[in-house]
Amino acid sequence: LSLLPKTEIQNISNGIHGGPDYTELKSLGLDSERILDFSVCCNPYNAPRTVRDSLRNLNLKAYPDSQASELRLKIARKYGITTENILAGNGTTELIRLIASTYFNKGEKVLIPVPTYGEYETSSRLAGANIIEYHWKRLETSRLDVCDLVEAIGKESPKAVFLGNPNNPSGDYLKRDEMEKIAACLKDTLLIIDEAYINFVKEGQTAMPLIENGKTIILRSMTKDYGLAGLRLGYTVASVEIITNLRRVCPPWNVNIAAQKSGAAALEAENFLVQSIKKIRQSKEYLVGELAKLGYEVLPSTANFFLVKVKSGKSFRTALLSEGILVRDCTSFGMPEYIRIAPGTKEECRKLIKTIKKLKNEGRLNDND
Ligand SMILES: Cc1ncc(COP(=O)(O)O)c(C=O)c1O
Repeated sequence: LSLLPKTEIQNISNGIHGGPDYTELKSLGLDSERILDFSVCCNPYNAPRTVRDSLRNLNLKAYPDSQASELRLKIARKYGITTENILAGNGTTELIRLIASTYFNKGEKVLIPVPTYGEYETSSRLAGANIIEYHWKRLETSRLDVCDLVEAIGKESPKAVFLGNPNNPSGDYLKRDEMEKIAACLKDTLLIIDEAYINFVKEGQTAMPLIENGKTIILRSMTKDYGLAGLRLGYTVASVEIITNLRRVCPPWNVNIAAQKSGAAALEAENFLVQSIKKIRQSKEYLVGELAKLGYEVLPSTANFFLVKVKSGKSFRTALLSEGILVRDCTSFGMPEYIRIAPGTKEECRKLIKTIKKLKNEGRLNDND
């Protein structure tokens, strides 16, 4: 007797993401505590003391608040919305899955501009949706061709469109008026805008006001903003009707007490975010400049990460990992000649450049010749 899982998951493999693969590190004899990680695009600075203090004396015996009320109240105050417009999640990724399982019927079309964050596709496939891949068309100025995207949406009439803003891994960003243009063309389509990295975009504008159209869902990642990858925390902002529907499917107690408390404390430490964003921009400028000096093509990005053209992302990653440094091989994005780098602290970035120079001199980077 062979017990097969449901058909939708038969072609789904474990998603590839940035971040340490602890089994791989162990097999290489590397200490995960000592790895310099440029492969995840989180705030690289240690969360402020208030956040770490909030993790003391937690009542571990009690289930957490399923409503995450304190956290949602703080988010609501920050953006001038109501708590009924917010649902907290165990990272943005849980919310992406939740949206797909709440809204996508088997066989319905979901339009996903690619390359992008792989969880949009995985979640849609799990729900049995048909993926329509839309290949980003870039204008000369490296801006996305919004008119072309609008045309594609009109032609396909999908149930939903996912848009990373800024997009991972390219760092392309759509301004509010461009988002409004896309939203204006929607009939019976959900527009899911993933703003996981929007705080890192200079003068980045949220599309939150669009939730009033009842078709727009905004995703945010506190994991990224405050460097809480070990805890994971995200939230979604949408109309009361959409949030009510998501809540019906959301598992109870989905956000643990440590994530709820630290998220609420993080929102009180806005200066941390402002200061770290400043430093991340300086690190990014430094890295982009140094990599260009070394002859690498760096693609323009508005975000806290950028793509670098190398000969093979896989072998570049392997070479750096042997020195205890992790970058994102972009093969899984369909871009095997690229790596993605998210700047760390200035000191970490200096170490990265020094290591690349060393590997180059030793002929261990079969890269851009
Ligand atoms: C665009 C995008 N959205 C969401 C996430 C997931 O963030 P979280 O840790 O909040 O689930 C990522 C992580 O790589 C991402 O790149």
